[in-house]
Parts: sequence; C-alpha cells; structure tokens
Amino acid sequence: MDDSSILIIGANGQLGKALQTRYPGAVAVDSDKLDITNVDAIYHFDWSNVKTVINAAAYTNVDGAETPEGRILAWRINSVGAANLARVAIGRDIQIVHVSTDYVFDGQQAEHTEDEPFSPLGVYAQSKAAGDIAVSLASKHYILRTSWVIGDGPNFVRTMLELGQKGVAPTVVADQVGRLTFTSQLVNAIDHLLTKQAEFGTYNVSNGGQPASWADITRTIFKQAEYDLTVTDTTTSEYFAGKPGIAPRPLQSTLALDKLQATGFTPTDWRSDLENYIGNQHVN
Ligand SMILES: NC(=O)c1ccc[n+]([C@@H]2O[C@H](COP(=O)([O-])OP(=O)(O)OC[C@H]3O[C@@H](n4cnc5c(N)ncnc54)[C@H](OP(=O)(O)O)[C@@H]3O)[C@@H](O)[C@H]2O)c1
Repeated sequence: MDDSSILIIGANGQLGKALQTRYPGAVAVDSDKLDITNVDAIYHFDWSNVKTVINAAAYTNVDGAETPEGRILAWRINSVGAANLARVAIGRDIQIVHVSTDYVFDGQQAEHTEDEPFSPLGVYAQSKAAGDIAVSLASKHYILRTSWVIGDGPNFVRTMLELGQKGVAPTVVADQVGRLTFTSQLVNAIDHLLTKQAEFGTYNVSNGGQPASWADITRTIFKQAEYDLTVTDTTTSEYFAGKPGIAPRPLQSTLALDKLQATGFTPTDWRSDLENYIGNQHVN
C-alpha cells in the first residue's frame, strides 16, 4: 500500500511508534509538530497530500484524568482534539482512523459489541466517548475500539517484567477480565481495513484467544519469562482501598471480534504475541 499519503498523529506513543515502523513513507508528527488541540496549527498544517489520517494521539492517564488539571487535558486532547481532526476530515474528504477504548463501556456486559450504548465511568472514559461521537460525524471514519494496549512504552507487561526481574511476587487484580492488544496486532488490523477498503464504521480490535484477568495474565508473563514467583489474587476494590483519585475501571473489557473477523481478519492469540514481545524485551 502506498503510505506516502498517510499522516500519523501522536507518532511517539506506543501505537504511533508501531505505525511508523509499518508505514515508513508516511508523514509522522508528534505533539510538537502538530498539537491536535491547537486549531491554528491544524488550520496551517499542509493537508494537501493527506488521504488518510491516523490519530494515535490521546491523553491516556486514566487516573491523571481524575485530577482537576488532568480532567481539562483529557477533554482537550481526547474530545476537542478528535473533533478538530474530524472537522478537517469532513472538510477535505480525508479518511480518518481513530482509536477508542473499551472504557467507553461500564464493563457490565461479559463481551462488548460495537453497538453497545456508551456508559463510560471515569473522566478519561467520558472524554474518549465524546471523541468517538465527534469522529463518527466524518463519513469516512474507522473508529477502532481496543483494550489493554502493549507496545513500545510504559505498559502492564513491562511493569510485571520489571517486578519479576527484581524477584517481587505481586498481588494483582483478578476481577478485571479482557485481552491484551499488542500494537503489532492493532497496526495489522488498521492496515487490513485500509487495504481491503472495508466498510467505514466502528470495529473492535484486540488480540484473540481466551480472555483472562490481569492476575492470570501476570502468571502467563512469569511463566513465559521463566520467573518462578507466586501471583496473589485480589479484587479491584481491595487493591485500590484507601487510595484516593483512582478512576473507576470496567470489570469486563473483552471486546467481541466477530465484526472484524467478518472482514477476513484473524486475530492472533494474545499468548503467542506475548511470547514474541517478551522475547524482544531481552529479559531473563
Ligand atoms: N494504553 C492502553 O492501554 C489503551 C487501551 C485502550 C485504548 N487505548 C487508546 O489507544 C490509543 C493509543 O494509545 P497509546 O497507548 O499508544 O498512547 P500513548 O503511548 O500514551 O501515546 C499517546 C501519544 O499522544 C500524544 N499526544 C498527547 N497529546 C497530544 C496533542 N495535543 N497533540 C498531538 N499528540 C498528542 C503524545 O505525545 P506527546 O508525548 O508528544 O505529548 C503521545 O505520544 C489511544 O487513543 C488510547 O486512548 C489505549
């Protein structure tokens, strides 16, 4: 696929880095080069060669979004920023790929389909839901709902590997269930939808395989990295007891993948992508 007409926004995030690797000919901008909350910067940006804009930018600090400053940033970046990009996409007939989250749901359903009504719990979640609504106004949109993203950046797997390396046997929540999404998987799905020119709309994207709790995922990480450490289960409410300012988390994060699969995409089991990921972290 000719990638020279792709613009990657939020290029230095986990997803942004993976997109740059997949599309080396694309224009990739970080927030210094293009701040999506800055209407003037967006107005003066050279859009003439852009046919596809991929928005990997977001305010992703879910607990930070519960603070007074974070609340403002989350809404500016995740809602207003997304709306600014949607306006350009609509005005210039550009297709927009936007990344969303299972957090737009309250986690009461065991599995989330694309048409489940919004029920976001925390500020980050609400700001992302508003971003989805804004982007959905562009007729050429792909909104990809994803969960538990793992790539090149701070993330759960890296945190657990660091604990394992130090010999720390952690206590981990066992009542939040979902699937990891490696950025390689997310990029493969984006590339698949763009290449196939799949019908525009909202698609769930995560790795495949049996959903698991964070505690069970940690056990798998330790097994694959060969750390002989015991993982103790806890509940979300026990884990965060007495810690103020924690965003509510949906307990069920599993995304239904049928719609994506119906386009011909086969998700990889999260366990096998985890094995590759751990192999590339040079830990032992
Ligand atoms: N991480 C997860 O577990 C998770 C789960 C579900 C969904 N998602 C969604 O997946 C997407 C990618 O997440 P990620 O983990 O790759 O995020 P990330 O690593 O936190 O990266 C976000 C990027 O957005 C950029 N950014 C922030 N404000 C910006 C602005 N005003 N203008 C332009 N760029 C800005 C940041 O750049 P600077 O550092 O230069 O500011 C950063 O590089 C997001 O939409 C997120 O909501 C993530």
